[in-house]
Amino acid sequence: MRKLVVGNWKMHGGLDANAALLGALYAAGRQACPFAVCVPFPYLQQAQALLGSSSVAWGAQDLSEHASGAYTGEVSGAMLKDFACRYVIVGHSERRALFGDTDERVAAKVGAAISVKLQPILCVGETLGEREAGVTEAVVERQLAAVFARCGAEALAACVIAYEPVWAIGTGKTASPEQAQAVHAFIRARLSAWCGEDVAAAMTILYGGSVKPQNAAELFAQADIDGGLIGGASLVAGDFLAIVAAAAS
Ligand code: PGA
Repeated sequence: MRKLVVGNWKMHGGLDANAALLGALYAAGRQACPFAVCVPFPYLQQAQALLGSSSVAWGAQDLSEHASGAYTGEVSGAMLKDFACRYVIVGHSERRALFGDTDERVAAKVGAAISVKLQPILCVGETLGEREAGVTEAVVERQLAAVFARCGAEALAACVIAYEPVWAIGTGKTASPEQAQAVHAFIRARLSAWCGEDVAAAMTILYGGSVKPQNAAELFAQADIDGGLIGGASLVAGDFLAIVAAAAS
């Protein structure tokens, strides 16, 4: 597996604040663990300008499932490639819950990303109700299976997977390292069945949901947790870099 830490800025930022944050990431230079930031669309050019000569990668938080056409307000994968994005988050729980991203649409978006050689960061995860009902594994399997069914094993294998329990996102409630590891191991086992054992072993599976400098090391020490998808803490350079450092050790 390849270690990775990705910041998800969500709908935060502004030119001045971004310049300071991106400047601090640039100044930190190459870290033992590769890291990236996924910024709002209007700031992709700024990320490219300020990070372009660094080892820090950048990406977007969503893309259209369509390649082009009369889709007012949508942004295509090819447009993201124009700004040298490496990654695109697909199927974040906020998009699933608030913007109608069904399993099928998420799968179509993964296909759209792969077709232009963007690496999807495919988010999966259960709600609190689903965890309490004991269907966590069924939910995560369904979300992954939709991508496998539509896009195939090769496309699924090209994704970074992010397990983000919905009840842990932005709530300050983190899954315990054991809870997270159990789901990560399940995900790797499913990937192994679909993509082959060696391929699954090499895939990156991130944990996301209230990761902070204080809890990152314990989470990243788990066998199947290869890094993190970081929301709130990615907006503070010192916190984000501390999390990146925790992934390296
Ligand atoms: P959080 O968000 O770190 O603020 O909980 C994680 C995410 O939504 O990717």
